[in-house]
Amino acid sequence: MSAQPLDVSRIKKDFPILQRTVRDGKRLVYLDSGATSQKPNAVLDAERHYYETSNAAAHRGAHQLAEESTLAYEAARAKVAAFVGAQPDEIIFTKNATESLNLIAYTFLNATTKAARGESLPDGAERFVLKPGDEIVVSEMEHHANLVPWQELCAKTGATLRWFGITEAGRLHAEEGISNLINERTKVVSLVHQSNILGTVNLLGLPFKRAREVGALCVVDACQSIPHMPVDVNNIYADQGADLVAWSGHKMLGPTGIGVLWGRREVLDSMPPFLSGGSMIETVTMQGTTFAKPPQRFEAGVPMMAQAVGLGAAVDYLNEIGMDRIAEHEHELTEYTLPRLSEIDGLTIVGPNTSADRGSTFSFVVDGIHPHDVGQVLDSHGVAVRVGHHCAWPTCQHFKIPATVRASMYLYNDFADVDALVDGVRDAQKFFGVS
Ligand code: ALA
Repeated sequence: MSAQPLDVSRIKKDFPILQRTVRDGKRLVYLDSGATSQKPNAVLDAERHYYETSNAAAHRGAHQLAEESTLAYEAARAKVAAFVGAQPDEIIFTKNATESLNLIAYTFLNATTKAARGESLPDGAERFVLKPGDEIVVSEMEHHANLVPWQELCAKTGATLRWFGITEAGRLHAEEGISNLINERTKVVSLVHQSNILGTVNLLGLPFKRAREVGALCVVDACQSIPHMPVDVNNIYADQGADLVAWSGHKMLGPTGIGVLWGRREVLDSMPPFLSGGSMIETVTMQGTTFAKPPQRFEAGVPMMAQAVGLGAAVDYLNEIGMDRIAEHEHELTEYTLPRLSEIDGLTIVGPNTSADRGSTFSFVVDGIHPHDVGQVLDSHGVAVRVGHHCAWPTCQHFKIPATVRASMYLYNDFADVDALVDGVRDAQKFFGVS
Protein backbone atom coordinates (compact mmCIF):
# COMPACT_ATOMS: atom_id res chain seq x y z
CA MET A 1 0.00 0.00 0.00
CA SER A 2 1.44 3.35 -0.93
CA ALA A 3 2.02 5.95 1.77
CA GLN A 4 -0.04 9.11 1.94
CA PRO A 5 1.45 11.67 -0.47
CA LEU A 6 3.33 14.63 0.99
CA ASP A 7 1.65 18.01 1.10
CA VAL A 8 4.65 19.79 -0.43
CA SER A 9 3.03 23.23 -0.53
CA ARG A 10 2.50 23.00 3.25
CA ILE A 11 6.02 21.66 3.81
CA LYS A 12 7.54 24.52 1.78
CA LYS A 13 5.93 26.97 4.22
CA ASP A 14 8.01 25.48 7.06
CA PHE A 15 11.22 26.63 5.32
CA PRO A 16 11.68 30.42 5.52
CA ILE A 17 14.37 30.48 2.83
CA LEU A 18 12.00 28.90 0.32
CA GLN A 19 9.76 31.97 0.64
CA ARG A 20 12.41 34.30 -0.74
CA THR A 21 12.92 35.21 -4.36
CA VAL A 22 16.22 35.33 -6.24
CA ARG A 23 17.52 37.01 -9.41
CA ASP A 24 15.07 39.87 -9.77
CA GLY A 25 12.03 38.36 -8.17
CA LYS A 26 12.20 34.78 -9.44
CA ARG A 27 10.73 32.03 -7.28
CA LEU A 28 13.59 30.08 -5.65
CA VAL A 29 13.63 26.54 -7.01
CA TYR A 30 16.13 24.87 -4.73
CA LEU A 31 17.56 21.75 -6.37
CA ASP A 32 20.85 21.53 -4.49
CA SER A 33 19.94 19.50 -1.42
CA GLY A 34 22.70 17.01 -2.22
CA ALA A 35 25.11 19.79 -1.25
CA THR A 36 23.13 21.00 1.73
CA SER A 37 19.46 20.92 2.68
CA GLN A 38 17.41 23.91 3.76
CA LYS A 39 16.27 24.22 7.39
CA PRO A 40 12.70 24.28 8.71
CA ASN A 41 11.57 26.73 11.39
CA ALA A 42 11.55 23.89 13.92
CA VAL A 43 15.33 23.51 13.58
CA LEU A 44 16.03 27.25 13.59
CA ASP A 45 13.78 27.70 16.64
CA ALA A 46 15.39 24.83 18.53
CA GLU A 47 18.89 26.26 18.12
CA ARG A 48 17.76 29.74 19.09
CA HIS A 49 15.86 28.41 22.10
CA TYR A 50 18.92 26.49 23.25
CA TYR A 51 21.11 29.59 23.07
CA GLU A 52 18.47 31.72 24.76
CA THR A 53 17.80 29.35 27.64
CA SER A 54 20.48 26.72 28.30
CA ASN A 55 23.74 27.61 26.62
CA ALA A 56 26.69 26.20 28.57
CA ALA A 57 29.51 23.75 27.88
CA ALA A 58 28.04 20.23 28.02
CA HIS A 59 29.69 17.64 30.26
CA ARG A 60 31.51 20.37 32.21
CA GLY A 61 30.43 22.73 34.94
CA ALA A 62 28.42 22.25 38.13
CA HIS A 63 25.67 24.78 37.45
CA GLN A 64 22.11 24.47 36.24
CA LEU A 65 22.83 25.67 32.70
CA ALA A 66 25.61 23.11 32.30
CA GLU A 67 23.22 20.41 33.49
CA GLU A 68 20.49 21.49 31.06
CA SER A 69 22.94 21.77 28.20
CA THR A 70 24.28 18.26 28.89
CA LEU A 71 20.75 16.88 29.00
CA ALA A 72 19.86 18.62 25.71
CA TYR A 73 23.03 17.36 24.03
CA GLU A 74 22.50 13.78 25.18
CA ALA A 75 18.78 13.90 24.31
CA ALA A 76 19.82 14.83 20.76
CA ARG A 77 22.19 11.86 20.68
CA ALA A 78 19.35 9.56 21.75
CA LYS A 79 17.06 10.93 19.01
CA VAL A 80 19.72 10.46 16.32
CA ALA A 81 20.38 6.93 17.58
CA ALA A 82 16.71 5.96 17.49
CA PHE A 83 16.40 7.45 13.99
CA VAL A 84 18.84 4.83 12.62
CA GLY A 85 17.93 1.95 14.96
CA ALA A 86 21.05 2.38 17.12
CA GLN A 87 21.90 2.79 20.80
CA PRO A 88 22.88 6.29 22.02
CA ASP A 89 26.39 5.25 23.07
CA GLU A 90 27.05 4.07 19.52
CA ILE A 91 26.60 7.60 18.13
CA ILE A 92 29.59 9.93 17.88
CA PHE A 93 29.08 13.56 16.98
CA THR A 94 31.72 14.98 14.65
CA LYS A 95 32.11 18.21 12.68
CA ASN A 96 30.76 16.63 9.47
CA ALA A 97 30.73 13.37 7.54
CA THR A 98 34.20 14.07 6.17
CA GLU A 99 35.50 14.19 9.71
CA SER A 100 33.63 10.97 10.54
CA LEU A 101 35.38 9.19 7.67
CA ASN A 102 38.75 10.73 8.57
CA LEU A 103 38.20 9.55 12.14
CA ILE A 104 38.07 5.97 10.85
CA ALA A 105 41.11 6.40 8.61
CA TYR A 106 43.10 8.01 11.44
CA THR A 107 42.08 5.17 13.75
CA PHE A 108 43.94 2.85 11.40
CA LEU A 109 46.92 5.20 11.19
CA ASN A 110 47.09 5.70 14.96
CA ALA A 111 46.75 1.99 15.66
CA THR A 112 49.42 1.21 13.09
CA THR A 113 51.80 3.81 14.55
CA LYS A 114 51.21 2.66 18.12
CA ALA A 115 51.72 -0.99 17.18
CA ALA A 116 54.98 -0.17 15.39
CA ARG A 117 56.23 1.49 18.60
CA GLY A 118 55.12 -1.43 20.74
CA GLU A 119 52.54 0.68 22.59
CA SER A 120 49.43 -0.95 24.04
CA LEU A 121 46.18 -0.89 22.07
CA PRO A 122 42.57 -1.42 23.15
CA ASP A 123 41.39 -5.05 22.97
CA GLY A 124 40.46 -5.97 19.41
CA ALA A 125 42.43 -3.07 17.86
CA GLU A 126 44.73 -5.42 15.91
CA ARG A 127 42.25 -5.23 13.03
CA PHE A 128 43.18 -1.54 12.67
CA VAL A 129 46.90 -2.24 12.31
CA LEU A 130 47.97 -2.08 8.65
CA LYS A 131 51.08 -3.32 6.90
CA PRO A 132 52.32 -3.19 3.32
CA GLY A 133 50.30 -5.68 1.28
CA ASP A 134 47.06 -5.06 3.18
CA GLU A 135 44.23 -3.77 1.02
CA ILE A 136 41.43 -1.23 1.28
CA VAL A 137 38.49 -1.44 -1.10
CA VAL A 138 36.32 1.48 -2.22
CA SER A 139 34.51 2.22 -5.48
CA GLU A 140 34.98 4.52 -8.43
CA MET A 141 31.80 6.39 -7.46
CA GLU A 142 33.00 7.56 -4.06
CA HIS A 143 32.83 11.17 -2.96
CA HIS A 144 36.36 12.44 -2.30
CA ALA A 145 35.55 12.22 1.44
CA ASN A 146 35.41 8.43 1.14
CA LEU A 147 38.41 8.22 -1.15
CA VAL A 148 41.13 10.72 -0.28
CA PRO A 149 41.42 9.72 3.43
CA TRP A 150 41.94 6.10 2.30
CA GLN A 151 44.50 7.18 -0.32
CA GLU A 152 46.35 9.10 2.37
CA LEU A 153 46.20 6.13 4.72
CA CYS A 154 47.62 3.85 2.04
CA ALA A 155 50.42 6.32 1.30
CA LYS A 156 51.37 6.41 5.00
CA THR A 157 51.13 2.68 5.73
CA GLY A 158 52.05 0.94 2.48
CA ALA A 159 48.57 -0.57 2.14
CA THR A 160 47.06 -0.79 -1.34
CA LEU A 161 43.83 0.87 -2.48
CA ARG A 162 41.58 -1.16 -4.77
CA TRP A 163 38.15 -0.32 -6.12
CA PHE A 164 34.94 -1.50 -7.70
CA GLY A 165 34.29 -0.04 -11.14
CA ILE A 166 31.08 1.48 -12.45
CA THR A 167 28.89 0.04 -15.21
CA GLU A 168 27.86 2.22 -18.15
CA ALA A 169 24.41 2.40 -16.55
CA GLY A 170 25.97 4.02 -13.49
CA ARG A 171 25.69 0.99 -11.21
CA LEU A 172 28.36 -0.56 -9.04
CA HIS A 173 30.27 -3.39 -10.77
CA ALA A 174 29.62 -5.43 -7.65
CA GLU A 175 29.74 -8.96 -9.01
CA GLU A 176 32.65 -8.89 -11.40
CA GLY A 177 35.78 -10.26 -9.78
CA ILE A 178 34.45 -9.76 -6.27
CA SER A 179 36.35 -12.70 -4.78
CA ASN A 180 39.58 -11.34 -6.18
CA LEU A 181 38.86 -7.73 -5.26
CA ILE A 182 37.88 -8.57 -1.68
CA ASN A 183 40.30 -11.18 -0.40
CA GLU A 184 42.23 -12.27 2.69
CA ARG A 185 44.38 -9.15 2.46
CA THR A 186 41.36 -6.79 2.59
CA LYS A 187 41.09 -4.85 5.85
CA VAL A 188 38.32 -2.39 4.96
CA VAL A 189 35.50 -2.20 2.44
CA SER A 190 34.17 1.36 2.46
CA LEU A 191 31.33 2.12 0.07
CA VAL A 192 28.86 4.88 -0.60
CA HIS A 193 25.22 3.97 -0.01
CA GLN A 194 23.73 6.48 -2.44
CA SER A 195 26.06 8.21 -4.89
CA ASN A 196 26.07 12.00 -4.56
CA ILE A 197 26.68 12.40 -8.30
CA LEU A 198 24.88 9.48 -9.98
CA GLY A 199 21.98 9.01 -7.57
CA THR A 200 22.65 5.26 -7.60
CA VAL A 201 21.58 3.40 -4.47
CA ASN A 202 24.13 0.66 -4.01
CA LEU A 203 23.03 -2.80 -2.98
CA LEU A 204 25.72 -3.41 -0.42
CA GLY A 205 24.75 -7.00 0.41
CA LEU A 206 27.12 -8.75 -1.95
CA PRO A 207 30.33 -6.80 -1.25
CA PHE A 208 29.68 -6.70 2.48
CA LYS A 209 28.85 -10.41 2.66
CA ARG A 210 32.23 -11.07 1.05
CA ALA A 211 33.90 -8.53 3.35
CA ARG A 212 32.51 -10.40 6.36
CA GLU A 213 33.87 -13.70 5.02
CA VAL A 214 37.41 -12.29 4.97
CA GLY A 215 37.07 -10.37 8.25
CA ALA A 216 37.22 -6.89 6.70
CA LEU A 217 35.58 -3.88 8.32
CA CYS A 218 32.41 -2.69 6.54
CA VAL A 219 32.12 1.11 6.31
CA VAL A 220 29.25 3.06 4.72
CA ASP A 221 29.13 6.66 3.53
CA ALA A 222 25.42 7.30 4.10
CA CYS A 223 25.40 11.08 3.53
CA GLN A 224 22.96 10.86 0.66
CA SER A 225 20.83 7.99 1.96
CA ILE A 226 20.02 8.60 5.63
CA PRO A 227 18.35 11.98 4.86
CA HIS A 228 16.22 10.43 2.11
CA MET A 229 15.08 6.93 3.10
CA PRO A 230 14.55 4.85 6.22
CA VAL A 231 17.94 3.40 7.18
CA ASP A 232 18.48 0.98 10.03
CA VAL A 233 22.22 0.67 10.60
CA ASN A 234 21.74 -2.86 11.94
CA ASN A 235 19.93 -3.87 8.77
CA ILE A 236 21.60 -1.82 6.06
CA TYR A 237 22.23 -4.83 3.89
CA ALA A 238 21.16 -8.46 3.84
CA ASP A 239 19.77 -8.32 7.39
CA GLN A 240 23.15 -7.42 8.82
CA GLY A 241 24.56 -4.14 9.96
CA ALA A 242 27.65 -2.38 8.75
CA ASP A 243 30.46 -1.78 11.23
CA LEU A 244 30.71 1.98 10.85
CA VAL A 245 28.35 4.44 9.12
CA ALA A 246 29.14 8.13 8.48
CA TRP A 247 26.74 10.92 7.57
CA SER A 248 26.19 14.63 8.00
CA GLY A 249 23.56 16.68 9.82
CA HIS A 250 23.24 19.55 7.36
CA LYS A 251 21.99 17.33 4.54
CA MET A 252 19.06 16.09 6.69
CA LEU A 253 17.58 19.52 7.58
CA GLY A 254 19.95 19.96 10.51
CA PRO A 255 22.51 22.70 11.12
CA THR A 256 25.96 22.84 9.58
CA GLY A 257 28.91 21.89 11.78
CA ILE A 258 27.63 18.53 12.96
CA GLY A 259 28.18 15.10 11.49
CA VAL A 260 27.62 11.61 12.81
CA LEU A 261 29.58 8.41 13.04
CA TRP A 262 27.71 5.31 14.11
CA GLY A 263 29.73 2.27 15.10
CA ARG A 264 28.86 -1.15 16.45
CA ARG A 265 29.71 -1.01 20.14
CA GLU A 266 32.44 -3.65 20.07
CA VAL A 267 34.04 -1.93 17.07
CA LEU A 268 34.03 1.49 18.75
CA ASP A 269 35.36 -0.05 21.98
CA SER A 270 38.37 -1.39 20.11
CA MET A 271 39.22 1.89 18.36
CA PRO A 272 42.03 4.13 19.64
CA PRO A 273 41.15 7.84 19.67
CA PHE A 274 41.42 10.29 16.77
CA LEU A 275 41.44 13.83 18.20
CA SER A 276 42.70 14.17 21.75
CA GLY A 277 42.22 16.77 24.48
CA GLY A 278 39.53 17.60 27.00
CA SER A 279 36.72 15.24 27.98
CA MET A 280 37.94 12.25 25.99
CA ILE A 281 40.12 11.04 28.84
CA GLU A 282 39.74 8.69 31.79
CA THR A 283 42.89 9.75 33.71
CA VAL A 284 45.72 12.13 32.87
CA THR A 285 49.14 12.49 34.48
CA MET A 286 52.26 14.18 33.17
CA GLN A 287 53.46 10.72 32.22
CA GLY A 288 50.46 9.65 30.15
CA THR A 289 46.72 9.36 29.61
CA THR A 290 44.06 6.69 29.53
CA PHE A 291 40.98 7.23 27.46
CA ALA A 292 37.25 7.35 28.13
CA LYS A 293 34.80 4.84 26.70
CA PRO A 294 33.02 5.67 23.44
CA PRO A 295 31.37 7.94 22.50
CA GLN A 296 33.31 10.38 24.76
CA ARG A 297 36.63 8.91 23.58
CA PHE A 298 35.92 10.42 20.16
CA GLU A 299 34.48 13.78 21.23
CA ALA A 300 37.47 15.84 22.34
CA GLY A 301 36.81 19.48 23.24
CA VAL A 302 33.58 21.37 23.92
CA PRO A 303 31.02 19.70 21.68
CA MET A 304 28.61 21.39 19.24
CA MET A 305 25.66 21.54 21.65
CA ALA A 306 23.43 23.91 19.70
CA GLN A 307 24.02 22.01 16.47
CA ALA A 308 23.14 18.73 18.19
CA VAL A 309 19.93 20.26 19.52
CA GLY A 310 19.13 21.51 16.01
CA LEU A 311 19.84 18.07 14.57
CA GLY A 312 17.53 16.51 17.17
CA ALA A 313 14.79 18.90 16.01
CA ALA A 314 15.48 17.89 12.39
CA VAL A 315 15.05 14.24 13.38
CA ASP A 316 11.72 15.09 15.05
CA TYR A 317 10.59 16.94 11.93
CA LEU A 318 11.55 14.06 9.61
CA ASN A 319 9.94 11.51 11.93
CA GLU A 320 6.72 13.48 12.05
CA ILE A 321 6.48 13.36 8.27
CA GLY A 322 7.80 9.79 8.09
CA MET A 323 10.91 8.61 6.28
CA ASP A 324 8.92 6.04 4.29
CA ARG A 325 6.70 8.85 2.96
CA ILE A 326 9.72 10.97 2.13
CA ALA A 327 11.33 8.06 0.28
CA GLU A 328 8.12 7.42 -1.64
CA HIS A 329 7.76 11.11 -2.49
CA GLU A 330 11.31 11.22 -3.84
CA HIS A 331 10.65 8.06 -5.83
CA GLU A 332 7.65 9.77 -7.45
CA LEU A 333 9.84 12.79 -8.23
CA THR A 334 12.32 10.40 -9.83
CA GLU A 335 9.65 8.71 -11.93
CA TYR A 336 8.51 12.14 -13.10
CA THR A 337 11.96 13.65 -13.67
CA LEU A 338 13.68 10.87 -15.64
CA PRO A 339 11.27 10.96 -18.63
CA ARG A 340 11.02 14.76 -18.50
CA LEU A 341 14.81 15.10 -18.75
CA SER A 342 14.97 12.36 -21.40
CA GLU A 343 12.54 14.35 -23.59
CA ILE A 344 15.23 17.00 -24.07
CA ASP A 345 17.23 16.37 -27.27
CA GLY A 346 20.96 16.48 -26.60
CA LEU A 347 20.64 15.85 -22.85
CA THR A 348 22.35 12.76 -21.44
CA ILE A 349 21.66 11.56 -17.92
CA VAL A 350 24.88 10.49 -16.19
CA GLY A 351 23.72 7.73 -13.87
CA PRO A 352 20.88 5.21 -13.86
CA ASN A 353 18.05 6.18 -16.19
CA THR A 354 15.58 3.86 -14.50
CA SER A 355 13.95 4.64 -11.17
CA ALA A 356 14.78 1.39 -9.36
CA ASP A 357 17.52 1.66 -6.74
CA ARG A 358 18.24 5.30 -7.39
CA GLY A 359 17.45 8.48 -5.53
CA SER A 360 16.18 11.83 -6.77
CA THR A 361 19.61 13.20 -7.68
CA PHE A 362 20.11 13.75 -11.40
CA SER A 363 23.39 14.52 -13.09
CA PHE A 364 23.32 15.36 -16.76
CA VAL A 365 25.27 16.94 -19.59
CA VAL A 366 23.86 18.87 -22.54
CA ASP A 367 25.49 18.62 -25.98
CA GLY A 368 27.29 21.78 -26.97
CA ILE A 369 26.97 23.64 -23.64
CA HIS A 370 29.40 23.48 -20.74
CA PRO A 371 27.67 22.43 -17.48
CA HIS A 372 28.72 25.71 -15.85
CA ASP A 373 26.90 27.63 -18.58
CA VAL A 374 23.77 25.51 -18.12
CA GLY A 375 23.99 26.23 -14.40
CA GLN A 376 24.22 29.95 -15.03
CA VAL A 377 21.13 30.01 -17.24
CA LEU A 378 19.26 27.91 -14.67
CA ASP A 379 20.30 30.36 -11.97
CA SER A 380 18.86 33.21 -14.03
CA HIS A 381 15.55 31.29 -13.86
CA GLY A 382 15.84 31.00 -10.06
CA VAL A 383 16.78 27.32 -10.31
CA ALA A 384 19.67 26.46 -7.96
CA VAL A 385 21.71 23.43 -9.04
CA ARG A 386 25.31 22.36 -8.49
CA VAL A 387 27.72 22.15 -11.42
CA GLY A 388 31.21 20.66 -11.52
CA HIS A 389 32.69 17.30 -10.56
CA HIS A 390 30.75 17.26 -7.27
CA CYS A 391 33.80 16.05 -5.32
CA ALA A 392 33.54 12.81 -7.28
CA TRP A 393 36.16 13.51 -9.89
CA PRO A 394 37.00 9.86 -10.65
CA THR A 395 33.33 9.28 -11.53
CA CYS A 396 33.53 12.09 -14.10
CA GLN A 397 36.80 10.64 -15.39
CA HIS A 398 35.07 7.26 -15.77
CA PHE A 399 32.39 8.83 -17.96
CA LYS A 400 35.01 10.98 -19.77
CA ILE A 401 33.29 14.24 -18.90
CA PRO A 402 34.77 17.25 -17.12
CA ALA A 403 31.67 18.06 -15.11
CA THR A 404 27.91 17.64 -14.89
CA VAL A 405 24.86 19.69 -13.98
CA ARG A 406 23.34 18.14 -10.87
CA ALA A 407 19.77 18.64 -9.65
CA SER A 408 19.23 17.04 -6.25
CA MET A 409 15.79 16.97 -4.67
CA TYR A 410 14.22 16.58 -1.28
CA LEU A 411 10.89 16.53 0.54
CA TYR A 412 10.20 20.22 -0.29
CA ASN A 413 10.45 19.75 -4.08
CA ASP A 414 7.53 19.06 -6.37
CA PHE A 415 6.74 18.49 -10.04
CA ALA A 416 6.62 22.28 -10.63
CA ASP A 417 10.27 22.45 -9.55
CA VAL A 418 11.12 19.72 -12.08
CA ASP A 419 9.23 21.64 -14.78
CA ALA A 420 11.23 24.77 -13.94
CA LEU A 421 14.43 22.74 -14.34
CA VAL A 422 13.34 21.39 -17.72
CA ASP A 423 12.24 24.85 -18.95
CA GLY A 424 15.56 26.31 -17.82
CA VAL A 425 17.59 23.67 -19.69
CA ARG A 426 15.55 24.26 -22.85
CA ASP A 427 16.17 27.99 -22.45
CA ALA A 428 19.91 27.35 -22.14
CA GLN A 429 19.78 25.40 -25.40
CA LYS A 430 18.01 28.31 -27.10
CA PHE A 431 20.44 30.83 -25.60
CA PHE A 432 23.45 28.90 -26.87
CA GLY A 433 21.80 28.06 -30.18
CA VAL A 434 21.96 24.28 -29.79
CA SER A 435 18.25 23.41 -29.75
N1 ALA B 1 28.93 16.44 -0.70
C1 ALA B 1 28.15 17.54 -1.12
C2 ALA B 1 27.68 17.40 -2.54
O1 ALA B 1 27.62 16.33 -3.05
C3 ALA B 1 28.76 18.86 -0.85
O2 ALA B 1 27.37 18.39 -3.16
